[in-house]
Formats: sequence, C-alpha cells, structure tokens
Amino acid sequence: MSIHIEAKEGQIAETILLPGDPLRAKYIAETYLENAEPYNHVRGMLGYTGTYKGKRISVQGTGMGIPSISIYVNELIRDYGVKNLIRVGTCGGIQKDIHVRDVVLAMSATTDSAINHLTFPNIDFAPTADFGLLHKAYSIGERMGTSMRVGSILSADAFYRDSMDLMKKLAGYGVLAVEMETTALYTLAAKYGVHALTILTVSDHVFTGEDTTSAEREKTFDEMIQIALTTAIQ
Ligand code: ADE
Repeated sequence: MSIHIEAKEGQIAETILLPGDPLRAKYIAETYLENAEPYNHVRGMLGYTGTYKGKRISVQGTGMGIPSISIYVNELIRDYGVKNLIRVGTCGGIQKDIHVRDVVLAMSATTDSAINHLTFPNIDFAPTADFGLLHKAYSIGERMGTSMRVGSILSADAFYRDSMDLMKKLAGYGVLAVEMETTALYTLAAKYGVHALTILTVSDHVFTGEDTTSAEREKTFDEMIQIALTTAIQ
C-alpha cells in the first residue's frame, strides 16, 4: 500500500496506461482488458489490472494537473515498481493546422509551472518522452492510418487564463497543443530511470474554438487507446 493507492504488492503491472479521468480508467479496463480486477478506490481514483493480448497491463486514473499526476506517478514507480507509463489524455490544439480528433505524440513538454525550479533552481530541465515508446507508438499509429502529429506540447498549470499571450508565443515556437500533466510524468520518469510517453487526442482548439461532440471524442479516444495498448505490449 502507498498513501494514495491501496493495491497490495504485485497487484500493479510493470506497464500502465494513465488517463486523467478515473472513469476512463474503468472504461479502458472494462472495454479492452481481459480479467480486469480493480485495485484502487482511494479518493475515487480508480485503478485496474488485467491482460491485453496475453500481457499484464494496468490502468490508473491520475486526476488533472501536475500536482495530482505527480502523486500517482511517484507512488506507482517507487512503491509498485512500474517501469513503462503511457499517459492517454486530451489536449487543446494551438497550431492552425492541428484539428480536433488529431492524435498528438508528445516528444517534449514545456511548462509554465514552477515545479522543476524546485529541483533545478538555476536551469530549465527539458522533460522528454522515451524514444523507444515514441517510436513504437508512431509506427503503430502510421499502420492504423491515424492522423498524427509528433512534437512539443505545453503542460500548463491553469486551464482558465487571463491572457492568451503566452500560448500565442509558444505557438510561434512550434508548440502543438496544451494539456496539464506531461512535464511531471517525463521529469519523474527521467528521475527514476523508467520509460514514459504521452499520447493525446485534440479535444478542442484554443484559438479557433473548434470543438468535438462526445460521440466524436469517444471514437478518437478509442483509436488512441488502441495505439497505447499496442505500444504497451510490444
Ligand atoms: N486539455 C484539453 N483541452 C485543454 C485546454 N484547452 N487547455 C488545457 N488542457 C486541456
């Protein structure tokens, strides 16, 4: 047991999918995993372990934002020995040629959070995806014919903001999309020498206001989960 996860030793697989929404964790477990068993209900942050095509896989909700995902990723790695962590989430597009339902593979995650300055007071650490996982996910997505983009994203501390100036500036530097967690996932994976990747579907566009219906979101979400699960078992 850890502070926020009630699983017993050995109940969590070495490879895990990490949706922000705990009900997505339930959906993934019930839809895709065989013999899925719940291992966590603490704070409603559901976690399950089952098998996918014969390989043991877990799926754990992380909540929204850097502080929340940091708690789960720390405990999964330190207390349960998790080695491969694949975040599956949504993001807001910030480039003109990024559209809702596109899939984004996050190569690096810039942030406006001060969290890494607590660790590295005088430098800006560059949180980066694991190349092996990134390469696998890209090849799998290509074979599936998914509309995909690979590049840098922003992990923002705030969903609602007074000004769009920073977002416009980052778009000018090629940043593809904004979400709220990956910088922490990649930094912790680097710290503990494990593998991490974030796969996102574009749910909205920050500048054009382009949006998805819930039915469209479901369909793209399923495509992303298939890429993530196939990456996880290879
Ligand atoms: N996740 C999905 N859309 C987002 C947005 N517009 N900003 C931050 N996180 C998001």
